[in-house]
Amino acid sequence: LFTAERIEELRRILPEAFADGKVNWATLRESLGDWAEDEGEHAEHFGLTWPGKRDARRMAALPSQGTLVPVPGEGIDEETTRNIFIEGDNLEVLKLIQKSYAGRVKMIYIDPPYNTGNDFIYEDDFSEPIEAYLKRTGQLGDDDEPLSTNTRADGRFHSKWLSMMYPRLRLARQLLADTGAIFISLDDTEVANARMILNELFGEENFVAQLIWEKSKKGDAKLIAIVHEYVLVYAANKARLIESGGWRRRKPGIDAVLEHYQSLRAQHQGDHDAIQAAMRAWYKSLPKEDERRSHEHYKWSDDRGLYFAADFAGPDDGRKSRPRYDIIHPVTRKSCAKPSTGWRWEEPRTVAALAERPPRIHFGVDETTIPCRKSYLTEIDTEPFNSVFYRDGRAATLEVEGYVGKGVFPFPKSADILQQFIALASKDEDLVADFFCGSGTFGHAVWNQNRADGQARRFLCVQLPEQTEEGSAARQARFADIAAIARRRLRAVQKDLRADRKTAPNEDLGFRVLKLARSSFVGWQDYDGDNLNKLTDLFEQAEQPLAEGWIAGQLLTEVMLIEGFPLDSRLDRIALKRNDVRRVTSDAIGHALVACFDERVFSETLKALEVSETDIFVCLDSALSDKAKLELADRCLLKTI
Ligand SMILES: C[S@@+](CC[C@H](N)C(=O)[O-])C[C@H]1O[C@@H](n2cnc3c(N)ncnc32)[C@H](O)[C@@H]1O
Repeated sequence: LFTAERIEELRRILPEAFADGKVNWATLRESLGDWAEDEGEHAEHFGLTWPGKRDARRMAALPSQGTLVPVPGEGIDEETTRNIFIEGDNLEVLKLIQKSYAGRVKMIYIDPPYNTGNDFIYEDDFSEPIEAYLKRTGQLGDDDEPLSTNTRADGRFHSKWLSMMYPRLRLARQLLADTGAIFISLDDTEVANARMILNELFGEENFVAQLIWEKSKKGDAKLIAIVHEYVLVYAANKARLIESGGWRRRKPGIDAVLEHYQSLRAQHQGDHDAIQAAMRAWYKSLPKEDERRSHEHYKWSDDRGLYFAADFAGPDDGRKSRPRYDIIHPVTRKSCAKPSTGWRWEEPRTVAALAERPPRIHFGVDETTIPCRKSYLTEIDTEPFNSVFYRDGRAATLEVEGYVGKGVFPFPKSADILQQFIALASKDEDLVADFFCGSGTFGHAVWNQNRADGQARRFLCVQLPEQTEEGSAARQARFADIAAIARRRLRAVQKDLRADRKTAPNEDLGFRVLKLARSSFVGWQDYDGDNLNKLTDLFEQAEQPLAEGWIAGQLLTEVMLIEGFPLDSRLDRIALKRNDVRRVTSDAIGHALVACFDERVFSETLKALEVSETDIFVCLDSALSDKAKLELADRCLLKTI
């Protein structure tokens, strides 16, 4: 027998001895029991391991050699917007933004490649990620191919995917605020493995849910039709998240129900019998699955509003002393029938509820009906999100096609579902992020949700400029890569939103584009991955720290990231005659960053400079005399390059 056949035979009789396509010696030994020679003590521990895990861990800890550079002209409202779109490999990007964004992201949604055997994953080039990136984007000669298919036949099918995800999830965890959470779309291929590594990285106690997203009602299969996928939800700190108020959503369909009810009230002028009859007829006319119909028990009306007659019986908890006082029917003046378990409320509370106008107790036509509590739809308008939901993806595909063309991006996620996650887990000016953003659904969803609830969330989207395939619909539509598809979509969406008359004031429908590129510092470019000390202070490098051809605008962004300034910081040009000076400020940071990368910084400039002791001033080392350096170092934190 050839090895492959022998292995096949072994796999047939000892399937448990195989993991991830390879023989697992430990399990094989266990399966053979006394027949296998004992190799001595083996420390056992619980958890998921795979070949390459150590490297994956190391990957997360290595600093990036690249930087982010602004790409003016690719975005919208670039001067004022706080939304960010970054083109590049997300592992590098996550590293580069760590200092500026650690603990500042409220919600992350990702929809990574599911590892179904034909989708692309990015194979990390451990030593030279930026080189690889530049090659792939055609900026360097192209001989190696960092994107590869991961097929099931590959002996490292799961390992490769896990090694790709592990460092990214670890860095994502560090970005999350204490009350933040991550939502991850997956299917059966990796969901179990993903839970194992998420338990490790986030802590099992921070597991929130494994949502089931039913995608279609019917499917075909030899055994069982799989019609769903998953969304894993983990909190950065579940206990803190609950303390901070937890998550509720507005009941779906409720606004439409209340709107219809108001129109009936206007039409029937306080005739509640007529309103109720019309309301019931309307509910009946709706299709069974219509979310408005899920409120059909709200079918009673009084001057306070639409309500449902809720059970008023005490719980069957065996308590003997349940209140059993008389409640008098308002018309027949007789004592009403009582539930066998007594009333839910003590007498004073019921008396008060009866005294309100209109009363909060609902009666039947006579005393033979047990009275109920009135539960108004306007008062109980929120609910928790359910762990199972249905949304077919066809509408999402059509929507994206409307913006970028037919067949350009297959299987985008539904913006309205992402909107619900965003609404649950973020508000106000929270920063929310998606670093596998594909066609840009997440940015679209953020804009929609801000429009819907008047909040001012900001987004950060990352997408690899993954090249579109030769001959594909995307290529025919002249999209060179997926990042360009996302940008086109965002541009089209904001145009649509602006055309809509409902535009909210101060809405931010812009985005600024940055891309992963070479660092302006020579030190990073020579970095071989071993000598960490070399990286401790970029500002104190030998002779010529800047790479040839460096550009001031790009260097400024790099310095901002090194100093921990977010990418939506305010950038002001200081009006000075002889030097170009920029002032960077952010609400998130207590001091300013003032930078001038001119060859010489003139004394008039230094005189006119308004800096405080905690502000940082950055310039070229050769731009100042030693005396000027000493003087400036007294006034602020001076850093020279
Ligand atoms: C399943 S799609 C996301 C679809 C998206 N949710 C939508 O609705 O359009 C996954 C995306 O991640 C991108 N991707 C894969 N590896 C990446 C990486 N290392 N960095 C950034 N993006 C990556 C792929 O190019 C692909 O567009």
